[in-house]
Amino acid sequence: MIHRHDVIIIGAGLAGSRAAVEIGQVADVAVLSKVYPSRSHSGAAQGGIAASLANISKTDRWEFHMFDTVKGSDYLGDQDAIELMVREAPETVIEMEHWGCPFSRTEEGKIAQRKFGGHTLEFGKEPSLRACYSADFTGHVLLHTLHEQCLKHNVNFYSEFQALSLIFRDNRAIGVTAWDMVNGGLHTFYGRAVMFGTGGYGRAFHITSNAHANTGDGLALVTRAGLPLQDLEFVQFHPTGLWKSGILVTEGARGEGGYLVNGEGRRFMEDYAPTLMELAPRDMVSRSMQTEIDEGRGIKGEDYIHIDVSHLGEQKLMERLPQITELAMNFAGVDPRIEPIPIQPTAHYSMGGIPANPNCRVTYNANRDETVGFYAAGECSCISVHGANRLGTNSLLEALLFGRRAGKQIVEDLPHLEFPNLPADYEDEAKGEVEKMFNSTGKEKVGAIRDELQKSMTLDCGVFRTKEQLEKQHTKIEELEDRFKHITIDDKGNRFNTDLLEAIEMKHLLSFSGAIVEGALQREESRGGHSRKDFPKRDDDKFLKHTLAWRKDGKWELTFDKPVVLEGVSHKGFEPMERKY
Ligand code: FUM
Repeated sequence: MIHRHDVIIIGAGLAGSRAAVEIGQVADVAVLSKVYPSRSHSGAAQGGIAASLANISKTDRWEFHMFDTVKGSDYLGDQDAIELMVREAPETVIEMEHWGCPFSRTEEGKIAQRKFGGHTLEFGKEPSLRACYSADFTGHVLLHTLHEQCLKHNVNFYSEFQALSLIFRDNRAIGVTAWDMVNGGLHTFYGRAVMFGTGGYGRAFHITSNAHANTGDGLALVTRAGLPLQDLEFVQFHPTGLWKSGILVTEGARGEGGYLVNGEGRRFMEDYAPTLMELAPRDMVSRSMQTEIDEGRGIKGEDYIHIDVSHLGEQKLMERLPQITELAMNFAGVDPRIEPIPIQPTAHYSMGGIPANPNCRVTYNANRDETVGFYAAGECSCISVHGANRLGTNSLLEALLFGRRAGKQIVEDLPHLEFPNLPADYEDEAKGEVEKMFNSTGKEKVGAIRDELQKSMTLDCGVFRTKEQLEKQHTKIEELEDRFKHITIDDKGNRFNTDLLEAIEMKHLLSFSGAIVEGALQREESRGGHSRKDFPKRDDDKFLKHTLAWRKDGKWELTFDKPVVLEGVSHKGFEPMERKY
């Protein structure tokens, strides 16, 4: 079946939904989502969205937010994009307030703000309360508010459609093919513009805070269409995932005064970041925790640390951190009101992704030349506002703000974009893929391959990496790719065929995991979330550059020649310096 709309958006999280609100007011827009839209993973974000509203830290300014974001990024962030983001942050958040988003409030009735890692006043002097929040349900309330706006503006939703291929010809995005998960069947969606807001890929790792749906589908489609991916080696490990499950325990818990202790009962962060302690940026806190664990100072010598919030008292926990209190009870069997929570670093966020410029147009080379009719925003994109490490609460901001920018840009571009013709072979790739899976008779099981990929990625491409580990992981991925050719799926039916869906997702995970490993191998330095034990220092001479990775003839081809933008739009920019907190 063929569907034609002015604009096709893949992903109903914050980026996709926010763009749809903008476009729905003037054009016919369709949003495809592999889940029901309000179950998108943006809803799992807990602690806050950054904006220098200065509701509590009265002297806060966008310049401080810019400095923190640039320094937090370990100087790999593009400073023009960062300036745009931090300047537009207050209006983006206030717009949500005006649409009825139920933020927590100060005594005066303003949007409440809390501390988060790496956010400071006066260029690093003291912590800033910059994270606007709604208890620990911030992503949830933002997503639901946006969904209401989408319904108001007649956005067409196609829920439970799994994207299979990007139709891209002669530098122009035409549409996508997708599988109808409820009824079965291949569908083609095409339009004058295509936008990806497809989210992250945390499910490439064993310990992750990400939803099961986060299999990097957009990245897989883009790389298979011959376009590059950017900075994929920069994976964020959030310090506080629940032990064993990886479920998020918000950084807001530390923002409210929670602290970390090791197996000796000591607040070890004083050894690593004496000024900001637990509120240092995430890459540093995760490395500090992993070091404690690796050197035998985990709790009972095991691979976890404790976060203690019990001193905050029941009233504060119920008011500000009710979700994590319940999650700790249900998934770790501890009551945070009276005992510490076991936690470990968890794969949380992808700093890299589909290269795009601040107008959200997808670019395809180191010169930043633009594709036509193709846009990306949110976690799947790499507009490079986070560089090598993202600060907490800049993710909800990025998704919402660049979703808004993408929507406005598409509206502006639509009069210049004709409806494209569908090429004759528009569904060949997807049809071939699905038929192959239905006809598969091999001995390999998808679940086993997925398990091996996730465990090996966490083990050998995790918080710390070495050449030996990465080479081992490179070989492992090649082996898994080979084994994947010999899978079988047992369910040959159409309705809710999760066997088929898992095979498609597995294929997607394997499509780009090699680029994470290859980038990590070739980037012989340590920067932000990428930490090489054998190259422990940042090397600006060689690597103050973005990585671009193309898949060609079954191999990854990487370049390190895309310059980082070191100047803001109006601000002169911040020179790279040593990161101390
Ligand atoms: O810790 C958190 O609440 C997560 C926030 C974020 O990733 O920005």
